[in-house]
Amino acid sequence: MTEIRSAGYSVFINKDIAAEINRFFESAGSRYSKIFILVDENSMKHCYPQLVEKIEAFKDAELIEIESGEENKTLEVCAQIWKTLSEFGADRKSLFVNLGGGVICDMGGFIASTFKRGISFINIPTTLLSQVDASVGGKTGIDLDHLKNEIGVFSAPSAVFINPDFIHTLDKRQLLSGFAEVIKHGLIADVQYWDLIKQTDALYIDDAEKLIAASVRIKNKIILEDPNEANLRKILNFGHTIGHAIESFFLMNNKTLLHGEAIAVGMICEAYISSKECGLSDVALSEITSYILDSYKAVPIKTTDHAKLIELMKHDKKNENDSIMFSLLSGIGKCEINCKVNNDVILESLKYYSGKTKTVK
Ligand code: GLY
Repeated sequence: MTEIRSAGYSVFINKDIAAEINRFFESAGSRYSKIFILVDENSMKHCYPQLVEKIEAFKDAELIEIESGEENKTLEVCAQIWKTLSEFGADRKSLFVNLGGGVICDMGGFIASTFKRGISFINIPTTLLSQVDASVGGKTGIDLDHLKNEIGVFSAPSAVFINPDFIHTLDKRQLLSGFAEVIKHGLIADVQYWDLIKQTDALYIDDAEKLIAASVRIKNKIILEDPNEANLRKILNFGHTIGHAIESFFLMNNKTLLHGEAIAVGMICEAYISSKECGLSDVALSEITSYILDSYKAVPIKTTDHAKLIELMKHDKKNENDSIMFSLLSGIGKCEINCKVNNDVILESLKYYSGKTKTVK
């Protein structure tokens, strides 16, 4: 069992996560009047049955099921859930449980943090993406049309419970999507971790608990220093300025592209920009490019889409005074924030990606 202390809460990583959750409810005593569990069809099928069998407190909980997918991370779905909470008599002492991936953790945290001005919530992330990223750090939110996480609040969970075995319920695409955030953690903060990642096959992770704990430790160290993203936390956005724009673009066009698949492209483009603007060596750029292209399927991005992508980047939350701001690598394991980059270099980076993908699968 691993326990990582974060800002006012703990992240527990344990294959017997039910035992940890039972301990949490024992120490909470009668603090919670009612429990609501948010699931999607995947966590309902693969994760909920094994938890409810072992966790007494979950037996009388109200289950709220939504459809999986980023297209459901909307204000409309939130409104339905707030109404359900009201109808089922949720009060300020209710506990909201997010059992699922990134959408469930982001949106469930937002729903809980705004219902009656805020009720407690815990995260039980079931995908690799949510285990190493979305469940930890207190960012909650929803999309506004196609704009990613445009509405939201910083609000910490009461605890995070990670069962590394849940990742065995994921398909190949979901697993790789989560692994993109693991890659990012190595690139922005820890060259030794990057060396380990390069030897890891995302689809056959030997010791998932060790890998997830390493990633959570890296993220946690950053958010403890800068919980509300005034400065340092921006490094967690490496790959996301371009990645989010690509994800939004696919969302707008009703095409499926998972978060990590978009971030993988974003990391190649932003590594290219890093080599032009921030001192990343050409050797490091080609190492990053090759590793990501070997692991991820090429994403088709047409030259005619580039202007729209730049337009979408103008909505990035890191921007200042209408300039698109990036978090860039000065070396592997070293990341600089607040880098202003001209559109020409951004366009070059998209061309670099497309040029490299012509020869791969
Ligand atoms: N996913 C980036 C962050 O939590 O800051």
